[in-house]
This record gives sequence, C-alpha cells and structure tokens, in this order.
Amino acid sequence: MNIILLGPPGAGKGTQAKKLIELLAIPQISTGDMLRAAVAEKTPLGLEAKAFMEAGKLVPDGVVIGLVKERLAKPDCAPGFMLDGFPRTVGQAESLDAMLDSMSLTIDHVVLLEVDDEELVLRITGRRTCGACGAIYHLKYSPPPQPDTCSCGKKELVQRADDNEQTVRQRLATYHEQTAPLISYYEKRSLVRSVAGGGMGPNEVFELVKQKIGR
Ligand code: AP5
Repeated sequence: MNIILLGPPGAGKGTQAKKLIELLAIPQISTGDMLRAAVAEKTPLGLEAKAFMEAGKLVPDGVVIGLVKERLAKPDCAPGFMLDGFPRTVGQAESLDAMLDSMSLTIDHVVLLEVDDEELVLRITGRRTCGACGAIYHLKYSPPPQPDTCSCGKKELVQRADDNEQTVRQRLATYHEQTAPLISYYEKRSLVRSVAGGGMGPNEVFELVKQKIGR
C-alpha cells in the first residue's frame, strides 16, 4: 500500500505515521525528519535547508525531490511506503507522479488530517520529541510516562527549533498557500480520505484513519 499523509503542521502526521507503519509494515518517509538529520549533520544540503526551516518556509523543491527519489529507490519501499510531509507543492506532486510512473507504481490513498489552526498552535508549541528514539509527546495531551523522560528510558526530550509560536504561524500560512492546493489535485483522482482530527486523541484519530483506508 502506497500512502501520502497530508495536513497542516501539527495535524498529527508523524503521530499517525508511527501507528500506520506498525500496522502496515511499510517504511515512513518523512522529508521533515530527513532534512532535520541533514541539518544536525551539517551536510551541504542541511546547511542550505536550515534557514528555510527556521523561518517556517519550504525548502526548495529541487532539494526535497532529490531526497525522496533516492529514498523511494531503496529495497525496503518495495512492499509499499508512507510519505509524510511530501509532496507539499504542486511541483513536488508532479515530480512524484513522474517518479512513480517510471517505477510503475501508483498512490492508493491520500490521508488528509484536518485540524483548526488555533488547536494546531497549541499542539505544536507543546510538542516534545525524543532525541534518541524519535517518539513524539505533548506536554498536556500526550505526556511522557515520567517528566522529561521518554518511554525508551532516555532523558532526551527536545523542542524543535521551528516549534515556537511565531514560526508555527508562518508554517501555517505556508501550508494554506502552497500545500492546501494539493487537496484538489488529489481529489480530482478520488484519492483523498479526509479525517477531521480536531478535539480527539491520537487513538481515536487512528481508528478513523484505519476505516478510511479499509483496514
Ligand atoms: P515537517 O517535519 O514535515 O513538519 P510539519 O509538516 O510542519 O509537521 P509537524 O511535524 O510539525 O507536525 P505533524 O503533523 O507531524 O504532527 P505531530 O504528529 O508531530 O517539516 C518541517 C519543515 O521542514 C517545514 O516547515 C519545511 O521547512 C521543511 N520541509 C519538510 N518537508 C518539506 C517538503 N516536502 N518540501 C519543502 N520543505 C519541507 O503532532 C504534533 C503535536 O500534537 C505532538 O506534540 C503530538 O503529541 C500532538 N498530537 C498529535 N495528535 C494529537 C491529537 N489527536 N490530539 C492532541 N494532540 C495530538
């Protein structure tokens, strides 16, 4: 099964992806995670991406498309894959179509997570992520088992550099302007499975996602 997870920042793409990859046994391809790894390693690509990410803007299409192309060619994607945070512009979606055509692959579902902007700001500013295993928490909605400690045992809960309110509002503006047009792009092919995920917890959202993809 080949899936795209679409939705604004903080809608729960990462949270749902972690549940779905377990259910479906397919890899999560998160362009945000790949870019953050490149920034942390200070690679040339990371150095180019850093300023865009910290400003809440999109990294140029050419950079991200190259990353995804390389990743989709890896053997673990053969049984299927889940794209989290890609595509994010119509240009990226068109490039993805070309990539998939050349591999004789198609997308089965575009899962669209919809949440109001004000709830998204609260979710993102309260997010903490484990630097060791990548688990995602929220100080109020999904707290770690012990303060400042992940369930993996590491005391490495960190706040992302782009998770302050000012940058979050810019990221939301970027989403509405550049990424939301993808909804009609995929609706024309009847691929969009919308889940209204506001006001309910991650497990309830997961139940709805499973229904929408027939699992
Ligand atoms: P990226 O890492 O993709 O971030 P994003 O799309 O802004 O999404 P987030 O990771 O912030 O949120 P999420 O939807 O995964 O939510 P989560 O599950 O963590 O991108 C970061 C940057 O990289 C971009 O701004 C851009 O610069 C660049 N980039 C990435 N991809 C790119 C591309 N393709 N092209 C160009 N540039 C690109 O949940 C959020 C919080 O809410 C957590 O604390 C969680 O615990 C909590 N939560 C989750 N679900 C619920 C729920 N149901 N109820 C209550 N709380 C919940």
